Amino acid sequence: MSYALEVRNLTKKIGSKTIVNDVSFSVEKGEIFGLLGPNGAGKTTIIRMIVNLINRSGGSVIINEHNLDSSFKSAMSEMGAIVENPEFYKYMSGYKNIKHYANMATKKITEERIQEMVRLVGLEGAINNKVKTYSLGMRQRLGVAQALLHEPSLLILDEPTNGLDPQGIREFRDYLRLLANNGISVVVSSHLLSEMQLMCDRFAIIEKGELIHISTMNESVETEVALREYVFEVSNIKSTMEVLEKHNFADMVVKKDETSVSLTVVKEDVAKINRLLVEHDVDVYIIQMIKATLEDRFLELTNKDKKEQMT
Ligand SMILES: Nc1ncnc2c1ncn2[C@@H]1O[C@H](COP(=O)(O)OP(=O)(O)OP(=O)(O)O)[C@@H](O)[C@H]1O
Ligand SMILES: [Mg+2]
Repeated sequence: MSYALEVRNLTKKIGSKTIVNDVSFSVEKGEIFGLLGPNGAGKTTIIRMIVNLINRSGGSVIINEHNLDSSFKSAMSEMGAIVENPEFYKYMSGYKNIKHYANMATKKITEERIQEMVRLVGLEGAINNKVKTYSLGMRQRLGVAQALLHEPSLLILDEPTNGLDPQGIREFRDYLRLLANNGISVVVSSHLLSEMQLMCDRFAIIEKGELIHISTMNESVETEVALREYVFEVSNIKSTMEVLEKHNFADMVVKKDETSVSLTVVKEDVAKINRLLVEHDVDVYIIQMIKATLEDRFLELTNKDKKEQMT
């Protein structure tokens, strides 16, 4: 299997401080991969090392089988990036900005390529207007068009939705998906969990410079959390509690009120509890699963990490 990006044992030390510690992950072709972590976790530092804006203290970066150390030029040509906000000449049109950038590129960029990228990010209607008239979302999209000009197979974006409104974020997400469907791999960082949940195929959680978890969205949210919270709405809460106590489920109760009880159990126990209740003449009206969000999962993982550090 060849990857769009392989990051191996990436480490960054500044003075005596280790800012990024032994981070490894791989990004598949056409995949949208997230780097998720709280402020100061090390996301930008990881990205800056991948795009060679800063030196690595250790580790290697391989882009589409080109090692950044041994095949620098080929590796860089496979990569497009926006680190920090894209800078434009505000009094020039979007087109002139892109054209200016294209002229500076080492590779020849055709007029067709420019037009193709402008269309891809949906700026064809505004491309001749001055950048100062653009919304933040439009500037972000112009940045993506610019980063894609030289036909990279990998696009790297550090907090690309910063400052975008919900509509802008949604549109941006759709553009990323479109790129991925066209075979371009995307690495995107964010500290917004809910956003990453919608945007990425897989994600890594970075905390204090370390990669503490990696998996697909579905795995982390659906299967890994075998123990889930279920709410049973019942006709008789007193009998329900008696049944639960008698069958050793009382410890799993997380809350109850006059009509319902919530338990953290595995799926098999849900069926069992339902059967027991019915056998004891309790009517079960509703069984509802409380969906674990990525946010729950994120907190669970980072808290677990803290607990392990304390012991
Ligand atoms: N040049 C530097 N010198 C010293 N410390 C640095 C330097 N650059 C970054 N750091 C520290 O490294 C840590 C990681 O910073 P980084 O910017 O990579 O985090 P981040 O995950 O991108 O955070 P944010 O979500 O705020 O963008 C922080 O504690 C930061 O203070
Ligand atoms: Mg950052």
